[in-house]
Amino acid sequence: MMPVTTMVLHPACGPLRGHPDLPGDKSISHRGLLFGALASSPWTLRGLSQARDVAHTATALMGLGVRIVRDGSDLLVTSPDAWRSDVTLDCGNSGSTARMLLGLLAGRGLSARLIGDASLSRRPMRRVLDPLAAWGLTVLEGGDNLPLSVRGVANPAACSVALPIASAQVKTALALAVIQAGGRLELEEPHASRDHTERLLEDLGAPLRRLPRGFALEGPWDLPGHVLDIPGDPSAAAFWGVAAAIVPGSSLVLGPVSLNPGRIGWIRVLERMGCPVWLGTAHGHDPVGTVTISSPAVLSPVTIAGEEVVQALDEIPVLAVAMARARGISRILGARELRFKESDRLKAVAGLLGWLGVHAELSGDDLAIHGRGDDAPFPRPGRAFEALGDHRLAMAAGIASLVAAGPVTLEDPDVAAVSDPGFWATRRAIMEP
Ligand code: S3P
Repeated sequence: MMPVTTMVLHPACGPLRGHPDLPGDKSISHRGLLFGALASSPWTLRGLSQARDVAHTATALMGLGVRIVRDGSDLLVTSPDAWRSDVTLDCGNSGSTARMLLGLLAGRGLSARLIGDASLSRRPMRRVLDPLAAWGLTVLEGGDNLPLSVRGVANPAACSVALPIASAQVKTALALAVIQAGGRLELEEPHASRDHTERLLEDLGAPLRRLPRGFALEGPWDLPGHVLDIPGDPSAAAFWGVAAAIVPGSSLVLGPVSLNPGRIGWIRVLERMGCPVWLGTAHGHDPVGTVTISSPAVLSPVTIAGEEVVQALDEIPVLAVAMARARGISRILGARELRFKESDRLKAVAGLLGWLGVHAELSGDDLAIHGRGDDAPFPRPGRAFEALGDHRLAMAAGIASLVAAGPVTLEDPDVAAVSDPGFWATRRAIMEP
């Protein structure tokens, strides 16, 4: 058995100030690599995320023959003359890598075996395999989970797809299939998820038309060369936004980050909780801007439900920490999708709150968090926190520990590198007077 690494986390001794370093946006980085891999001329990616998840997408694409080389601080992505088929692709911990790659394989008519770590091997894949079947993707080994062997034949389908669950990963997988294999896709989702893919395709001039709850896209369509500027990651910024909210007297400047409407749910939630939030001028078709967040005199309780759950889903673990500091009961309603993330995050968030000595009730897919609302620190837990291999849980514990009564211990802090390899160094930096 590998020895478990631990890290001792000290509370903040005063207000947090500064401009935390942020990784490049993970969602846009995956898309830059995948769409760049299909283009007729090379793509230049500026500010690609160094996250382990993104490295898995890059390595998998290189396994299929895509050329990815450094050019100073940029990355050049070139489509292969001959794609490789029948290869094994390791997706690590990354659901985006696995689900989006399935779309690329379907549209290109390639066969591959997808593997991943224990957490990814529990996550559902049918949600993307089922609609991709129309584009000819067949499953040779596996069911709903990795490991999965698939064969693509690039069938040009004409299909209307009504997604039962909003998912930007599934939308992207289908777009990757249509632009290569051809046909026509009409897609609808129950709530609006992040639309980086739609905006990127619109910017490139693709035959994409918006529908009231989705989009229509026709293919085949040749992707042109492109230079993609990748902004900071708002999901990584959310950790520092909550840090500013809970450490009295703090103010942090975050970004520039993506301000895509599907990504800013957490900012709206902190605003409703009473945090002074200043949004700088947004620029670009997929908007980018700076966010300044300060601590309020009192954090108010809040309820998150419906579309807001979709638009703040990845940030719920850390928002729960802010809710634990609020004066009264906050509620997260109908967050079933959280159960299918890197861990059963709904249960895991309740576990994190229990570790912090906060009363929380989980009932079905709803979580009620009883915030104490005073400035008293979280009592020092008697044991180390285990993040269950979930990066966002580990980082949420790292933020909560800023207001603990003394040093606390976290197991496996390295898991933060899945999305933000610089997280612990940044935590140290913003605590320096
Ligand atoms: C992502 C979409 C979301 C999100 C994930 C990244 C993306 O997942 O939770 O971290 O980049 O498209 P779903 O597609 O399952 O909503």
